[in-house]
Amino acid sequence: MFDVKKIREDFPIFASQPDLIYFDNGATTLKPKCVIDAVSDFYCTHTSNVHRGDYAIAAQNDRLYDGTRKIFARLINCEPDEIAFVHNVTAALNQIAYGLSDQVNEGDVILVSKAEHASNLLPWFRLAKQKNAKIEYVETDAQANISVESFRKAMHEKVKVVSLAQVTNVLGSIQPIAEIAEIAHSYGAYVVVDGAQSVPHMKVDVKELGCDFLGFSAHKMCGPDGVGILYGKRELLKDMSPVFMGGDMNARFSSDTTVLLKDAPVRFESGTPNIEGVIGAGAAAEYLMSIGLDEIHAYEKELRAYFLEKMKQLDNLEIYNPDNEYGPLAFNAKGVFAQDAAGYLASKDIAVRSGNHCAKILHEIIGTDQTIRASLYFYNTKEEIDRFVQAASQISLESAIGIFF
Ligand code: ALA
Repeated sequence: MFDVKKIREDFPIFASQPDLIYFDNGATTLKPKCVIDAVSDFYCTHTSNVHRGDYAIAAQNDRLYDGTRKIFARLINCEPDEIAFVHNVTAALNQIAYGLSDQVNEGDVILVSKAEHASNLLPWFRLAKQKNAKIEYVETDAQANISVESFRKAMHEKVKVVSLAQVTNVLGSIQPIAEIAEIAHSYGAYVVVDGAQSVPHMKVDVKELGCDFLGFSAHKMCGPDGVGILYGKRELLKDMSPVFMGGDMNARFSSDTTVLLKDAPVRFESGTPNIEGVIGAGAAAEYLMSIGLDEIHAYEKELRAYFLEKMKQLDNLEIYNPDNEYGPLAFNAKGVFAQDAAGYLASKDIAVRSGNHCAKILHEIIGTDQTIRASLYFYNTKEEIDRFVQAASQISLESAIGIFF
């Protein structure tokens, strides 16, 4: 039974910041005690490197670090050796783009949308420039939703890669990835999914999605910063070239410059990894699974509907995604610069993000590159929403005070 009051007790920050309304979960999430403990235990009781030490705590960390692959495999329904730990979802998407570079040739097309985060555009822009390939955009509706029909229209023989967010980071548009993957595969294209804003909030099953690659970040799902999870189908990861060359990822090299790489996924984890981060990320994934991803999703949907209903009643606001059922609310107070409005909210102890949220061509869909984004997570409450709405009702040209601090 989902009990938000009880859940909030797991997050120490609420005790030290009792008035804080944290609605910036799209940027990063708060950390429960079990994650803090997992990281702290590593420092206090079993610090070592991994894959390099022949002593007891090193073996313990090998087990914990590699064991975390099993936890993530359970989370997204894949095999443990299909999970590589990188630094964030940006690193995952860059690795995928680099790894697919041999598959993209002059005149080929990489298909994306204008609602993507920079991390799911810039690696592809670079690859397209290097290969004299083309970027094309699948058409969306005014709230960045892609229909199966518009995707079908956008697909053609030249498309080699389709890369889309499952849930977009500003408008929370949920894309029909399973249908998209089926169509894309019928043309022989690879399907890459940016799961940064989906995996933390809903049950994501890579087999059901049918995607070839998926990237997501631990810090957006209650875990530590600096850990990205790169999923790839085993047969695709097997021969993929790593971006980074260095320690641990190689099996052998010689003075004649021949290099034998280790098998995936370790070949993608060059250098000492973020060991405590990975262990903490595993604790976060276990924590979310213990609550239940379906329960989290249902509660967030209910909160979002409540939030939207209240915000719709304020005539000083313009909302950009009123028909999307999920994800953040993106809005502006009419006539007020988004950052000034965010400053006003900050003066009421409310944390939101303002600006373009790294989605720097989304303005071609919504007509503005400045919005306030209020993004919820499962520890937020209707009482917080009531306080937020009360504060939002007061935002005006006169009240907005710019940067609060
Ligand atoms: N990608 C994060 C966001 O959307 C930082 O805010």
